[in-house]
Amino acid sequence: MNKPHRISGETAPLDREALESFWLPFTPNRQFKADPRLFVAAEGMHYVTSDGRRVLDAMAGLWCVNAGHGQRAIVDAIKAQAERLDFVSSFQMSHPAAFELAGRIAEIAPAGLDHVFFTNSGSEAVDTALKIARAYHRARGEGSRIRFIGRAKAYHGMGWGGLSVSGIGRHRRDFGPLLPEVDHLPHTHSIEHAAFSRGQPQWGAHLADELTTLLQIHDPSTVAAVIVEPVIGSGGVLPPPVGYLEQLRAICDRHGILLIFDEVITGFGRLGAAFGAEAFGVTPDLITCAKGMTNGAVPMGGVIASRSVYDALMAGPSSAIELFHGYTYSAHPLACAAALATLDVYCDLELFARCGRLAPIWEQAAHALRDAPHVVDIRNIGLLAAIDVTPRDGAPGARGAECAKRCFDDGVLIRSSGDTLVLSPPLIIAENEIEMVFATVRRALDAIG
Ligand SMILES: Cc1ncc(COP(=O)(O)O)c(C=O)c1O
Repeated sequence: MNKPHRISGETAPLDREALESFWLPFTPNRQFKADPRLFVAAEGMHYVTSDGRRVLDAMAGLWCVNAGHGQRAIVDAIKAQAERLDFVSSFQMSHPAAFELAGRIAEIAPAGLDHVFFTNSGSEAVDTALKIARAYHRARGEGSRIRFIGRAKAYHGMGWGGLSVSGIGRHRRDFGPLLPEVDHLPHTHSIEHAAFSRGQPQWGAHLADELTTLLQIHDPSTVAAVIVEPVIGSGGVLPPPVGYLEQLRAICDRHGILLIFDEVITGFGRLGAAFGAEAFGVTPDLITCAKGMTNGAVPMGGVIASRSVYDALMAGPSSAIELFHGYTYSAHPLACAAALATLDVYCDLELFARCGRLAPIWEQAAHALRDAPHVVDIRNIGLLAAIDVTPRDGAPGARGAECAKRCFDDGVLIRSSGDTLVLSPPLIIAENEIEMVFATVRRALDAIG
């Protein structure tokens, strides 16, 4: 085998042949390869493109680089760990950093959620949480509880379980049949009742009662868990109406159903608190997390479980494996080292509190676009924002995509999801950068037809 030309760092692959083999996820591959967008470096708030441009990252990578790029302490921790202990499995053995990390996460999680099962991604975290929910009920002699209830517009990753409870039609269409015994609550977004809402909409708490309706159709004793993102992220940044999550919690409690918060986006500071559960004052039984856990530097996810869920699964003989589930790379040493250093950075820079302080400035700047061309709705919470633009006749998504492209060409990376523009910057963003980001979006909106 000939050693191929090594493509790395500054020498980005630009010829067609070099681009061919990588099948990019969630990407129109043929279009991308005709006009590739490549990044070769990143520091702080910025990416550097292969043609040497600095682009402000208003997406924190993909909702994950909460402390900004290239944090020295995280890089150094990963390097040191790789030199000391590159890999050890956590199947019937482990390493000290895994225990330290679980303890540190339990410290910042809501009271009572104090056990962590490590995964490598948000998708694995969601599938793990769904399995834990069923195993929990079975361990308590309620094996009939197998149903899951998700929500329209929800994104819970790409595992079969997560996809089954997710509510974005396009993601599901090509892969059925998915898990049976799954229902969906309606989403809470209503332009008619809550357009341009700031933070949590006042309208919509009553939609939690749809859970009661589902429980009238299905015997509640068949339901294992309800799973929701506290703020729907990929489905368009939809904050929960005031009182909605409280109501879901109350209904779940009434019927012995576990409540799972998928905090893959909202975890680790995005809403001005360690978790959305804390920000909204509602404690679920299980939290799934990933992304900001390692500041995006090494793949890692996890499920944070309540003591009662953990204890229920620990009730059998002590020599028995309590949960026949896990991944080769669960609690990978490099990921643990990255996560521990990430938590230190969040703490040292007080980034969760900083997010809370910046949120009103962010809200003001986002909603100042209300009068910009094409805008039909704006939503925000913490350091998240979404701007809906009217679809172009016969070409849904085209206006959103063009707007995001213009922003990129103008030096700001945002995301478009259909005709929704989404922003989720690192929590280190400066006030003048917030102004600059929304000024760039305005220029794009002004320019597009
Ligand atoms: C709420 C939520 N859950 C799960 C996932 C899946 O995470 P991953 O892509 O790490 O598998 C995502 C990813 O964006 C997410 O936003």
